[in-house]
Amino acid sequence: MKICVLGATGRTGKLVVGQAHERGIDVTALVRDPARLGPTRELVNDVTPIDADDAVLTAALAGSVALVSALGPLRETPRGELAGLLTRILESADRAGVSRVVSISAAPISPPPAGESAAYRRVVLPAIRRVFRLQYQELALMDAALMARPGLDWTILRPPRLTNSAAAQSYRAEIGGPAVGGRTVTRAGLAKAVLDSLARPDWSRQIVGLAAG
Ligand SMILES: NC(=O)c1ccc[n+]([C@@H]2O[C@H](COP(=O)([O-])OP(=O)(O)OC[C@H]3O[C@@H](n4cnc5c(N)ncnc54)[C@H](OP(=O)(O)O)[C@@H]3O)[C@@H](O)[C@H]2O)c1
Repeated sequence: MKICVLGATGRTGKLVVGQAHERGIDVTALVRDPARLGPTRELVNDVTPIDADDAVLTAALAGSVALVSALGPLRETPRGELAGLLTRILESADRAGVSRVVSISAAPISPPPAGESAAYRRVVLPAIRRVFRLQYQELALMDAALMARPGLDWTILRPPRLTNSAAAQSYRAEIGGPAVGGRTVTRAGLAKAVLDSLARPDWSRQIVGLAAG
């Protein structure tokens, strides 16, 4: 089994690659700078430039059971840059016959779940949305690019704040939106959820909220 990973040089992306390797899943990484893979390079079967031409991207994607996006915008990322990049890769995925996509977004983009505390809804969430407004705008554009494609079998994972405990892979998942009381999840748990998504037909064409389990 093979997956194609965007954002494999990032903190979560490297964990996705590592856990995929442990599960015996081959990985093709589409990256802008292979050096940023570091030791993760050893765990990747193929590295292709993310800005390669369409024929090269299509060949890199061919045979993958899924495309995974762990791309993350920075505050200074020009609006639409990552959404445009994702759309271009989706077109190559389409040509390669890859219709399953798992993409990481962010919990605060979703409306707060019923049952969430008033303090969180009125004070904490608006403050988080203000601070990360530009990143969430880009992630929302990426999510919209996925949801707009007819026939695409997407799962959008929306985690809250990411933490770095390497050991803790447990998470809880809420189909449709953020988990009540979910304030953090580990990047290792998020990476596990990405790979678990491959065997979750009930997460198909769903936004799935995540939280520490
Ligand atoms: N940080 C949080 O608390 C938090 C909370 C909720 C959701 N999220 C989301 O969770 C996901 C994983 O987060 P993370 O902190 O693990 O990610 P990260 O370490 O910031 O990695 C981001 C990845 O995106 C790639 N990337 C960014 N801009 C790119 C561009 N223009 N072209 C090609 N690649 C580009 C980076 O490549 P380079 O290595 O080449 O830069 C890197 O591989 C992201 O979608 C993030 O938005 C984060």
